[in-house]
Amino acid sequence: MNKEITVLGLESSCDDTAAAIVRGRDILSSVVADQTALHAAYGGVVPEIAARAHAEKLDLCIERALDDAKVTLNDIDVIAVTAGPGLIGGVLSGVMMAKGLSAATGTPMIGVNHLAGHALTPRLTDNVGYPYLILLVSGGHCQFLRVDGPTAFSRLGSTIDDAPGEAFDKTARLLGLTQPGGPAVERSALSGDESRFAFPRPLLDRAGCDLSFSGLKTALLRQRDALIADQGGLHPQDVSDLCAGFQAAVRDVLVEKSRRALDASTGITGFAVAGGVAANTELRAALKALSAARDLPFIAPPLALCTDNAAMIAYAGAEIFAETGADDLSLSARPRWPLDQSAPAALGGGRKGAKA
Ligand code: KG4
Ligand code: ZN
Repeated sequence: MNKEITVLGLESSCDDTAAAIVRGRDILSSVVADQTALHAAYGGVVPEIAARAHAEKLDLCIERALDDAKVTLNDIDVIAVTAGPGLIGGVLSGVMMAKGLSAATGTPMIGVNHLAGHALTPRLTDNVGYPYLILLVSGGHCQFLRVDGPTAFSRLGSTIDDAPGEAFDKTARLLGLTQPGGPAVERSALSGDESRFAFPRPLLDRAGCDLSFSGLKTALLRQRDALIADQGGLHPQDVSDLCAGFQAAVRDVLVEKSRRALDASTGITGFAVAGGVAANTELRAALKALSAARDLPFIAPPLALCTDNAAMIAYAGAEIFAETGADDLSLSARPRWPLDQSAPAALGGGRKGAKA
């Protein structure tokens, strides 16, 4: 990017309503209104409730983002909005808001792929040079992407069923632990023995970088039920050992597939991870060691920028705008929008991945 433009970013593709102002690599403000409380009673995100909440909260988030950044709409050079993939009602709320603002102020607007936002975050936080490899690993995504430019992505592999965060959340539910499941499983695993129970290492016998996590949940369910049938319930140590075994299986699979993805990535400047699951200490350490063994910089952006936010959309919007120019008012909201148009669709792909 040659000029440090000021970008308003909007994100509303799942259950976080977010607005942010980014100038160059400076995040002037980043507001995230999460909807956890609204969906808590339903055990998952209800699309209609999410869409209504986005429509109600977007203008408030934008106002706060402008206030926090001490700028006005007149200072904004570009409006960047997540135009997919995601829940269509939420994506539409953001796209319509961006169009309204753009039409009213004459400010150019650009639609951003949500996954491009995640994938370009290491450039926002660490100014990593192209090309680099990124592993997106969250409750909604799991894929390896080689990033050659703001609009040049190659998918090396992705989950064919659940995303790892989804598997952590289900594991926690099956063992009576709190949500979100990742941190609870990680805590319990600290006092567990990862070798007590046998967990599979799905898809390691298949060449390539595709992943699968739904079998781990089935394995866990079987072990849990066998213990309950045998002893009438679960001891805290059983829960810890199950958590440790499950976490080790996820770690091993992600490490081995990362090794293959790195082998297949010539000339890269670094290996990055993003997404909520990248907060897992054991996983992070194992991936860092893998990178270090190759003398490759390992980039793990701070968690607030790994999870859904609008700063990543604003930053990606700036880079994409510099390359392609603005979108016009015909910009449409896309529930499905693969980053790598040439990659074949994965079978499942996690909560958001099938669409991605
Ligand atoms: O990226 P994220 O905030 O949201 C989306 O999925 O879009 O990721 C949330 C996921 C949840 O499934 C949560 O259980 C998982 O990340 N997670 C973790 C940890 N912290 C959060 N998984 C494993 N270990 C953790 N420490
Ligand atoms: Zn996301």
